[in-house]
Amino acid sequence: MPDWVRISTTASLPEGRGIRIEAGRHCIALFRLGDEVHAIGDRCSHAEASLSEGDVFGAEIECPRHGATFDLRTGRPLSLPATKPVPVYQTKTEDGDLYLLLDEREES
Ligand code: FES
Repeated sequence: MPDWVRISTTASLPEGRGIRIEAGRHCIALFRLGDEVHAIGDRCSHAEASLSEGDVFGAEIECPRHGATFDLRTGRPLSLPATKPVPVYQTKTEDGDLYLLLDEREES
C-alpha cells in the first residue's frame, strides 16, 4: 500500500534543475519549478541515463545521453529515441516539507 514519505524541505531543492534521491527501492529525479515539485523515475526509459542530470525546459526534461524529452507532469516521452514513459510520483508539500507517495513493494 502506498504511503506518504517525507523527503526533504521544499526550500532545499534547487530551482529549475534536477536532483537524484533514493527512497527505499526507488531512484527518483526531483525537479522544483516555482511552487511545484515534480518527481519522476530517474532512469531514462530508453537506456541507462540519469534524468536528474538533464536540462529542464519549462515542464520538460531532456535526457543527457541521447536527448529524448519527457513531460515532468506525466512522465510521457515527447521525442525519440524514448518511446516508453517513466514513472511519476505524487508529491505534496506540508509546512514546507516535501512528501512523495511511495509503494515500498515496488521498484523503479
Ligand atoms: S538514454 Fe535517454 S534518450 Fe537514450
